[in-house]
Amino acid sequence: MLEHGAAPPAADSDTRPPTPAGLGTGVLRRKPVERLVAEGGQGEGGTLRRSMGVWQLTMISIGATLGTGIFVVLGQAVPDAGPAVILSFVLAGITALFSALSYAELAGTIPVSGSSYSYAYATLGELIAWVCGWCLILEYGVSVAAVAVGWGQYLNELLNGVFGFTIPDALSAPPGDGGIFNLPALLVVMLAMVFLLGGAKESARANTIMVAVKIVALLLFCGVALQGVRAGNYANFMPLGMTGVSAAGATLFFSYIGFDAASTAGEEAKNPQRDLPRAIMLSLIIVTTLYCLVAAIAVGAMPWQKFKGSEAALAGIMKDVSGQDFWAVLLALGAVVAIASVVLTVLYGQTRILFAMSRDGLVPKVFSKVHAKSGAPRANTVIVSLFCGVLAAAIPLGQLADATSIGTLFAFALVNVAVVVLRYKRPDMPRSFRTPLSPLFPVIGFILCIGMMVSLDVVTWIVFGVWMAVGLVVYFGYGKRRSRLAPAEK
Ligand code: ALA
Repeated sequence: MLEHGAAPPAADSDTRPPTPAGLGTGVLRRKPVERLVAEGGQGEGGTLRRSMGVWQLTMISIGATLGTGIFVVLGQAVPDAGPAVILSFVLAGITALFSALSYAELAGTIPVSGSSYSYAYATLGELIAWVCGWCLILEYGVSVAAVAVGWGQYLNELLNGVFGFTIPDALSAPPGDGGIFNLPALLVVMLAMVFLLGGAKESARANTIMVAVKIVALLLFCGVALQGVRAGNYANFMPLGMTGVSAAGATLFFSYIGFDAASTAGEEAKNPQRDLPRAIMLSLIIVTTLYCLVAAIAVGAMPWQKFKGSEAALAGIMKDVSGQDFWAVLLALGAVVAIASVVLTVLYGQTRILFAMSRDGLVPKVFSKVHAKSGAPRANTVIVSLFCGVLAAAIPLGQLADATSIGTLFAFALVNVAVVVLRYKRPDMPRSFRTPLSPLFPVIGFILCIGMMVSLDVVTWIVFGVWMAVGLVVYFGYGKRRSRLAPAEK
């Protein structure tokens, strides 16, 4: 374990340590790895608590990953690829794998809470780090809102199955989507906020239970639907060729987003150097296995053409195979819990990334204030939850969901670059996990991410461009001057 020293001087102090020579100046200044690690856990007025082991960290990553993708997006991807959607999951999984290897190396070497933002700060300089952190707001903050919207749809399905009523459109859809306010979406975000205010340990415990429920729900699906599998359904395996497989793969990449969530818990892990790489790789292996299994059984139990337009495909399959509504209701319950745990863990990740950015002076100090009793950044949690809750309740998020993917892919691409840069600049640093065949694997990871970004549509690129432009205005108007590395250069 590395030692975690005392907090460095406050942001507005005159006694800031100078930026060592060779670490760049201006927007290119880099934060030394040792300083990033030494500041671990230190916030304004308190420290985060180290309470999580490899089990909880793995559950955080699975919690953030397994959700809307398998319960909703699978149904949308099958019409593109046919039964070969299994290969699409493998393809998207391979794309995630190369980046996961890079994440695992950096999380073990720089075990802090800022995830790729902090890795970029140590290797590529402050401006790129800011861009990365700004992308992470798309990956985490905006996706919380998008995922919360999906939660409302499954909640209605559950209410309909159990009580025979649904929340009216006016209160379950935002303006523009036929409603006034999406109350369930706001509700799930507020629920997650309450858990997070209690502290990381309590949230991790609740998340572990939810992850168990969602894995059981998917295994139950496999058990019931297996009885309906017919060899004939696989006969025309790749009806739309490799083009279809890769198009579905790009769509399904969404289902892998979140495996990196453990890397936002570096400052609350008991043994981050050892456990973070393990948690990242383990969660990816478990999730990929489950996805391929569920996909193989789903397309074996229902002809692929029938997936078109079916909203809750997995529930429909269970109902058809068993002839009972009961299973569909149970699966809806599994989905409600599954998606709630994505909201909880992703919201957690967003608060910790802003915590790290705030400690560096790039966003206001309020985000790194730690509540003495709970050891949680409470003010940060409330602000982020209100922002995400209102976004989820009031804005139709179809296009922003795609923006989540483009932002994530860009952050992943930067992590692949960062791992190579750190190997080159600091070859001697102790690494608890090493990406095999570097720089080949990180380069493949980088190319796969950029390739997938290119396959996204023009509107998504425009949204991304506007988001980045706003980010640059915020950086040059606020973060650059307030950065804790800035005065050291004067
Ligand atoms: N991977 C997460 C999900 O599928 C975002 O819900």
